[in-house]
Amino acid sequence: MARRKLTGARKFALLAAAMTLAAWQPAQAQEAEPANWPQIASPDALTDAETEAMITRLIARMSLEEKIGQMIQADIASIVPEDLRRYPLGSVLAGGSSAPLGKPDRSPGRDWADTAMAFERVAMEQRQGHVAIPLLFGVDAVHGNNNIVGATLFPHNIGLGAARDPDLIRRIGLATAREAAAAGVNWTFAPTVAVPQDDRWGRTYEGYSEDPAIVRAYAGEMTRGLQGEPGEGTIQDGYIAGSAKHFLGDGGTTGGIDQGDNAATEQELVDIHAAGYPPAIEAGIMSIMASFNSWRGRKMHGNESLLTDVLKERMGFDGFVVGDWNGHAQIEGCTATDCPQTFIAGLDMAMAPDSWKGLFDTNLAHARAGTIPMERVDDAVRRILRVKAGLGLFDAARPWTNRDGVIGSAEHRAIAREAVRKSLVLLKNDGVLPLKADANLLVAGPAADDIGLQSGGWTLSWQGDGNTNADFPNGQSIFSGIQEAVSAAGGSATLSTDGSFTRRPDAAIVVFGEEPYAEMRGDVRTLEFQAGDKQALALLQTLKAQGIPTVSVFLSGRPLWVNPELNRSDAFVAAWLPGSEGGGIADVLIADAEGAPRHDFTGRLSFSWPKTAGQFTLNAGDADYDPLFPLGYGLSYASPGSVPQLAEVAGVDASLANTSLFFARGRVPAPFAWEEGSAAARSPVDGPQTQEGAVRLSWPAGTEATARIAGPDLDLTRETNAKVLLQIEYRVAQPASGPVTMSLGSGTIDASALFGAAGEWRTVRVPLECFAAAGTDVASVSSPFALTASGPLIVDIADLRLATDPEGAFCPLEP
Ligand code: BGC
Ligand code: BGC
Repeated sequence: MARRKLTGARKFALLAAAMTLAAWQPAQAQEAEPANWPQIASPDALTDAETEAMITRLIARMSLEEKIGQMIQADIASIVPEDLRRYPLGSVLAGGSSAPLGKPDRSPGRDWADTAMAFERVAMEQRQGHVAIPLLFGVDAVHGNNNIVGATLFPHNIGLGAARDPDLIRRIGLATAREAAAAGVNWTFAPTVAVPQDDRWGRTYEGYSEDPAIVRAYAGEMTRGLQGEPGEGTIQDGYIAGSAKHFLGDGGTTGGIDQGDNAATEQELVDIHAAGYPPAIEAGIMSIMASFNSWRGRKMHGNESLLTDVLKERMGFDGFVVGDWNGHAQIEGCTATDCPQTFIAGLDMAMAPDSWKGLFDTNLAHARAGTIPMERVDDAVRRILRVKAGLGLFDAARPWTNRDGVIGSAEHRAIAREAVRKSLVLLKNDGVLPLKADANLLVAGPAADDIGLQSGGWTLSWQGDGNTNADFPNGQSIFSGIQEAVSAAGGSATLSTDGSFTRRPDAAIVVFGEEPYAEMRGDVRTLEFQAGDKQALALLQTLKAQGIPTVSVFLSGRPLWVNPELNRSDAFVAAWLPGSEGGGIADVLIADAEGAPRHDFTGRLSFSWPKTAGQFTLNAGDADYDPLFPLGYGLSYASPGSVPQLAEVAGVDASLANTSLFFARGRVPAPFAWEEGSAAARSPVDGPQTQEGAVRLSWPAGTEATARIAGPDLDLTRETNAKVLLQIEYRVAQPASGPVTMSLGSGTIDASALFGAAGEWRTVRVPLECFAAAGTDVASVSSPFALTASGPLIVDIADLRLATDPEGAFCPLEP
């Protein structure tokens, strides 16, 4: 059957409706010119005559409420299954920190399957006047089905880019689909086909490469893996729907700022940022997610020329366009609960996590009034039903759900381990690698035995924080993999996070890197690793001073400036964010009994590695391209190379780097500092971990005083909207007898309840929203923390930072 096209009268109706909204569009915004864009050779994978006829019959029976419902998706944190009776939505999602019904966020597959089925049951109820339509249940299965306990976690995309193996990508897609289907999930918001151009962007690791060719080579393979062959894969066979994201230009925002503006030319959009879409469409990708970013001032959720004229008409995309998390609210003139503009522009389903009810009501009114033309409503519904039908959701049986042994299966873990081996890029090796299997090894560094750190963001929680090894029943830490490899051959491995030892080792493997982060929280201002607090460097230095050969295993979501660490390492491996199969590292680092490598390094950089911390937009093909290691670089046992002593001048002001850490390990990191003046007295004290310091704040009896941390102005608007919290790890040594207040910026809350009784170390989190409700101007915060009291009061503080885990939230006001 021929594709439905928006031609003639229908196109005109849409244009006319759009013109009435023209006032909302920024005047200078550029329209895309469809003729500049690629046409897809075979875009019709998703349509067949029989299904289209079935959909036509279905749509004819649906009420307007049921149609509008299909176009809206709610988050399970903000909806209960019974709501679907009154609001017949087309989909629910579980966001990165949303828990299954009645269970903690970190739960095994069965709880997720129960949740999915609880919603599905209500959607499929036989009720008078109700057309039962199955639900799409979406999650961010972006490196395996990473939201559930026990799943196989694959390396994040940046590591897969280094592997240069499209066949592997397809196998990972299939394994991910099966582990999702087993948990009742039928849709993932993946693959990310961003082509990150500025490595300060916190989502750099979600992209395969800065090189559009690599993204192009992977996008179709991942789609086929998740969904099966174009037009063939169904949920009955353990396939799920994919969603290529984020359309368009997410990886090219100015300054690497998440959700920012992409100022590229149209040709750059075509050549760089759009590279992954044609192959994904050819492979039958069922949905495409609109991006938070704008292109030349206009938010993508409202960009009709790109969503409709280019994507749907020129490229012939027949699936549906889903929005990002309240992304429509960012269109000028829109709110989260009222936004006809986005649907007119071509969005088919809005992601309205907590705003679904209001959006449903206004959309219904807009459709009745014709503000959203009925043709547009019917087209959106048809696209959504097409995907549901194609995926087999109308055919009841779901044999993969709760199928035993699928989640974290040995077969899937073997694929992940292969991916880990293939993703490692050897940056430097002075001959210390491979390590002998019978050696006596020290395994040091904060990430040596921490599966959460090696897995990064989008792991069990949104930002990947708050995980412990116990949360990964099917995972293996890097240390454990090393220990397994050497103990099998008569060697030994000793775990020592701080690098201390009693028996002198033959060599040390030091595992360190970035703390987990995801969107927005991961944006940085310079590429200097651990600017201001070079813990890893200190550890390497200590080992070096003792003459111990060191192998650095560096975990990161992007290339970073690590010249000082490289200089103090005899070998240096960029391991990215390998996921649950830490054993893959030992496979390549530890030799066999004869001393020969068991696996060689085959990974090659998919991102250029910077020579200074200021090379933010270092990309192969730049006119003045001057990397430390170019795109494609990677040493191996078969072809070694040497790295000279490197310059240790970062080249940018390190104090720019930190925007969210206010106190750690005994001190206030730059650019923040204790404000001198009326402050309470400060003295060092042991922290909860004895090797890490804390500070004791003492308020003198009878006088009011403030302990305040100050720094440059921070704009915390995005953080506040995203429900970020100020996290305090503290202990009360002598309780307050009077009121205690806490401030962030200009707002002050009553914190007396936190300081009224002496006790052990504890962690409390205050939502930024709470401070905003108390009067903080979150767009301008020059003091992220202040505590005011009349003495006597003695408080020890171990750690102060912005965090996302909502547990232990405290707010004396209703935010
Ligand atoms: C992210 C998307 C994600 C969605 C659902 C958004 O904030 O930008 O990539 O799919 O949330 O979790
Ligand atoms: C959700 C994420 C989402 C984010 C957007 C979080 O609470 O868990 O999935 O991407 O909010 O702000």
